[in-house]
Formats: sequence, C-alpha cells, structure tokens
Amino acid sequence: MQKLYIILLVLIVVSCNSESNKEDGKSMSEKPIKSTELDNEVASLLSKMTLEEKVGQMTQITLDVVTKGDNQYSSSQPYKLDSALVYKAIHTYKVGSILNTPGVPLSRQDWYKTIKTFQDEAAKTPRQIPIIYGIDAIHGVNYTIGATLFPQQIGLAATFNKDLVKEAAKISAYETRASSIPWNFSPVLGLGRNPLWPRLWETFGEDVYLGKTMGVAMIEGYQGTLGDPNTVASCMKHYLGYSVPLSGKDRTPAWIPERELRQYFLPAFKEAVDAGSVTLMINSGEINGVPVHASKFLLTDVLRGELGFDGIAVTDWADINYLHTRHKVAETIKDAIKMSVNAGIDMSMVPHDFEFSELLVELVKEGSVSEERINDAVSRILKVKMQLGLFENPVTDPKDYPDFGSDKFAEVSKKAAVESFTLLKNKNNILPLEKGAKILVTGPTANTMRSLNGGWSYNWQGSEADNYAKDKNTIAETFTNSGNATFIQGVSFEGENNINEAVKAAKQSDVILLCLGENSYTETPGNTNSILMPKDQIDLAKALSKTGKKIILVLLEGRPIIFNEIEPLVDAVFMGYLPGNYGADALTDLLFGIENPSGRLPINYPKHPHAFVNYNHKHSDNISVPNYYDSDYDQQYEFGDGLSYTSFEYADLSISSKEMNQDGSIEVSVNVTNTGSRKGKETVLLFISDLYASITPEVRALKGYDKITLDKGESKKVSFTITKDELSFVNENLETVAEPGDFEIRIRDLKKKIKLK
Ligand code: BGC
Repeated sequence: MQKLYIILLVLIVVSCNSESNKEDGKSMSEKPIKSTELDNEVASLLSKMTLEEKVGQMTQITLDVVTKGDNQYSSSQPYKLDSALVYKAIHTYKVGSILNTPGVPLSRQDWYKTIKTFQDEAAKTPRQIPIIYGIDAIHGVNYTIGATLFPQQIGLAATFNKDLVKEAAKISAYETRASSIPWNFSPVLGLGRNPLWPRLWETFGEDVYLGKTMGVAMIEGYQGTLGDPNTVASCMKHYLGYSVPLSGKDRTPAWIPERELRQYFLPAFKEAVDAGSVTLMINSGEINGVPVHASKFLLTDVLRGELGFDGIAVTDWADINYLHTRHKVAETIKDAIKMSVNAGIDMSMVPHDFEFSELLVELVKEGSVSEERINDAVSRILKVKMQLGLFENPVTDPKDYPDFGSDKFAEVSKKAAVESFTLLKNKNNILPLEKGAKILVTGPTANTMRSLNGGWSYNWQGSEADNYAKDKNTIAETFTNSGNATFIQGVSFEGENNINEAVKAAKQSDVILLCLGENSYTETPGNTNSILMPKDQIDLAKALSKTGKKIILVLLEGRPIIFNEIEPLVDAVFMGYLPGNYGADALTDLLFGIENPSGRLPINYPKHPHAFVNYNHKHSDNISVPNYYDSDYDQQYEFGDGLSYTSFEYADLSISSKEMNQDGSIEVSVNVTNTGSRKGKETVLLFISDLYASITPEVRALKGYDKITLDKGESKKVSFTITKDELSFVNENLETVAEPGDFEIRIRDLKKKIKLK
C-alpha cells in the first residue's frame, strides 16, 4: 500500500515537472526520469510539505542571527545561542540551513552543542527535517580550535600530488564531522589567472588540467562514500568565472567570452559534477554585464542541462540582495528573488534576515515563481540531506572522532607543506645548509602564524592565528629552537622598522633567512592596487645584501608579490605560498636537507607590474623584434618551475604511434633517472602544443603530470595516454573539437610530433 502511494506521488511530481518543462520550451524527454528509492523518499516527503516549509528549506542564515548579541550581524562573546531566536528561525521560518562561525573559532564540544540544539529543535517540527550546517573548512576545519590546518589550495596544487591532496581532504572531512558539521564550502574550482585577485591562493593555480584533476582529488577525499559519518558534502565554487575580475579586485566585473568560459573555466566544474560533488556555490560577480546569480543560461541551461548537475546550487553571501543593491538589475529585493530563483538557485545564503522566505512565499502565491521550481529546488536539498544520512544521524559527536588533531594528521599536513615549498633559485647550491650554520632570521613574515596560514584561519581574515595557533611554530621559532639562529624582525606589517639592528645581526651570521611576503587576508579586504613588494621589505633586503652575506629568501604570500628589484641580491628563493600550521617545520627540514624540495609553481610568477601573462599564452603574446625591443613574455618564474637538491635526467621519449584517429589513443613514455646524490621526488609534466588551429593555439598546455620518487641512481619509466580529449579546444562555434593536424608533445626538453587524422 505504502509503495503504491509512493509511486502515485512520484507520478504527480513528474507530471508537475513536465508542465514546467513545457513552459520552458523543453520537452520532458530531454530529462532522464530517475526513480531510485531516494527520489521516491524525497517525493514522498515533499508532497507533505507546506509552501512555507519548502521555502524555509531554501533559506540559509548565518549563525549570528540566532545568537545573543547586539544584532544579527554580530555575536557577543563568549558566544551563546538565543533560544527565542533559534525558535524563530527553525519553527517560525522553518529554515533548512545555517552557516558560519560566530566570529571566533569554537571547540568541538561547542560545535556539538550548537548543532545539536538546532537538530533537536528541527526534530520537533512537523516534518522533522534536519538542518544542514555549512562551513568554510577550506584548509582543514579552520574554525575549530585544535584542528589540523593544511597548506591552502595554492600550496596543495604546488605539490602536484593528487594522492596527498585527497588524503588531506579526507582528514579535513573527518575533522569537520568531528565538529558536527556535514557540509564544506570547498574546493574553489576557479582558475587563478589574475595575480592581483585576493583569492588567488584559494585556487589550484592557473592551469585547467591541474585545477580539474586536483579538484576531483579533493572532492573524492571530502565525500568518500557519502553517508559515511567520516565524510562531508563538498561544495564546488564559485560557479562560474569568479576568479578573473578584470580589475583584479574581488567581486568586480569579469569579461569572459563564452568560448573562453567553456575552454578554461567550465572543465573543472564538469569534472567535479562527474566526480559526484553534491553541491555548488555561485559566483558573486558579473560576467559580460550579467550577474551570475541572475543567469538562467549559466544556472539552468549549462549547469543542469549540459553538465547534468542535480545537487544543490547555493547562492554566495547575500548575493540575491546584491542583484538589487549592487548590480542594479532588479528594481526591488522581491524582483531580485524572483530573478534568481527562476534562474535556478536552490538555496539562498540570505544570510541575515527572513525577507527571502517571506517574499518568496508571496512570489509563489502571485504566480511569479512556479511551485514546480520550488519543488525542484527543495527536492535537491532534501536529497542531499538524505544522502548525508542526516535524517538518521543529525549530529555527529566529537567523542567518536578520536583522531581529531592527532600527530598522525599533523604529519600529513607537514608532508603537504614539504611538498608544496617550491625552490626557485639555488645559486651555487647554497642549499641545503650546513648543520652548524649561524642564521639570522628576519622579515615581516618570519614570526607570525598569520603569514603561514592566510585567511580563513580561526576567523575570516586569519587575524587571530597567532593566538589560536600559538602552540605551533613560526619560522623564527623553529630556527631559534633548533639552535644556532637569531631573530630580528627588520620590518613589520605594523610599520615598525629596525633594519639597522637586523644588519648588525647579519654581520655576525653566516647566512640570512629573509622572510618576506604578505599578512593574512581574503575576499574584498584583500583587494590591492599593487602587487609590487612594499618599499620597506625592499629596503630591508637591500640593506642586508650590503653585508655581503648569503641571503635565502622565503616568500609567504597568497599571490605573487613582484620582487624583481631584489631578486639578483638573493642566493636562494623558496616560494612557500601559505603552507599552514606546519609550514615552518617543513621549511626547517628543507633548508637543512632533511627533506628534498619537490614543489612546482602552479602559476606564472610575474616579473613586471604591468605584464601579466599566463603560461599557456598565445604566440602573439611574445612579439619580440631582434635588436629593437625585448620579448614581452618575461616572467620571474614560470608555471611548472621548481628545483630539487638532486638532479634528474630525462631520456627516451617514445610514442606508440606517430598518427592517431579521432577515436584512437597514443601512449607516451619517458625514462627519468635520478643522477644526483640524494633521493628525490620529481614531477614529470607533459605539455602539448597544437601547431596550427582555427582558433589561435596556446604556445603549450599541460595535459598530464605524475609525481614519482627516485632513489639516487634509480630510473623509472613514466607513461601517459593521449586521446582526443588532450588535443581538443573550443572552436568558434563553441564546440569542443580536436582538429586534424600536427601536435607537439613535450616532456621537459624532449619533443615528439604526432598527427591527428
Ligand atoms: C565567500 C564564499 C564563502 C561564503 C560563506 C562568501 O563571502 O565568497 O567563498 O563560502 O562567504 O562563508
């Protein structure tokens, strides 16, 4: 009887959908009908819900709304829930989701109590639908006290080690569930192709292939088998084209031709959808004059129709309201809600009030938003809640997660930091250092956990890292603890200046460890008008170089800070990115040769302030006229650069065939030998160049990579498979094609030509 009832309900829902699809001009046959058990359960629950309950499920508020404090924008400390406000949110407005921290990180026990309170309230509602709590656990569960913080995404990309990224994500998921939270707003799948952008470090760098493969590894690590209480729902973000605002400033307009959107920005999302990511967050910005939150084309036609995404699409922070207040495409907030819900959003990160719920109910009643659209959104939300097992187990208990913050997790974080540090210069093999070397540690990033962790660390801007991570080592601490080192700040982010003292100390030392870069930031507070290295840091470097002592430069920064003025003055350069809580320990091991560097740059490192070019640029980016003017394409360091303390020789590049049919494949292999004096890890990078094409081809593009470990004297054969996919691009008609013709395959300086028929 029950089954019959469910089947009837499914039929009703399906027939409603077919009505709405007709309105959209699409026939139902384009949409596969899924009749899994889960869908039936969803349909059954949905059929019992009132409109207000459904709209409540689509509403996400921030934690401050239900805490004690002056208003909905802040919580008083110590943080406490306000039971009347919790009641209002869950019973009156029936909200389905809550996010964020109350401005400070919480202990696991506080997270547990908080989320349990919500779930207990939700259990008293007629439908007993659990809340889905979401958090930005972007490099570990960074809003939980004592959590394992990993390198930020840009550093993870620099490892070129997918297994390690997956392992880090798995630990992050475990520790997020240990904090009773089942939904993680990560990973960022935008490409970091504008070095000014203050969230560049939240990306996997500038390359399509690296970004999409790392994204999949991270999603697999987070989600494992969804429903397992050690895993979380991932949230790929920010769909689509968020990372390349023309001005470089966060949330300002981007201009991206559709061809480029499809070739560069869509693939990572496509792969992530195929890998099963169950949620997605939308880009706050506008592309070509259309705010993405209002784009039915991107949110419905491309995301649902082409990519086949059937999970939750959540807005970013207050972005529906911004359609009215910032982007000015909606005359009222109500119009903005109508626009965005009809474009295809499922959940609104409102996050400060209940206007969304009230106005959306009105819009449905007036017929401006169809109930089918609401059913569609709510079905997806309910489905993810079911997939996560929240109905059976609404709150995970920290006591079931004994490995939280354990040494074994710290080891993985340190390993990731070790593999992320990228050695870009090592003049006369100054590194590794002799054990007894007398070191001066100096510079604004030397003695702060903020520059190791970046934003989204303990709080939004990472400004409390020195307080909450005081048991972890800064660079100055690891070196002074390990013996023969002195620390003098030199210059600080607060404007203090004791360069003279640093110079004095340098004279007494064998070598200078100069730590430059940036303080922590993210999003719009991190906007900048210049990524030139600040004058006081340059002054410090210049003053120190006058001592004649060797200088090892360590860069801790979220984006490439231009330092061409002092590059010739330093003997070694280590790009550290934002390596996390164990970054300093990793660096010590690397400098003393306990570890061998293996990171590679996931971005081009610009040399000049007005000449930003990505590595896979076009041939016409490099127009040089001999004896007249120099090449325009002049980088400080290039994507893929990174040295080791050992040396690797590449030989015998071979291909299984010189020709390939459109449905064929070619095996490529190369022998790599460790010809140096110590064990090392090497990332083998395979680049392909399309020699002639109907759209100007890129000079080269990464199409494969593999990280291997070789003992001294050891050789390994590394193989790759090339199919049509690796030879394709998006043509003028917006089709992904591989045009017949010649292609060049390159692994380091070895090259082979193949022909596609
Ligand atoms: C950011 C998102 C983040 C969200 C929730 C927004 O301001 O753009 O990346 O997930 O806040 O914290």
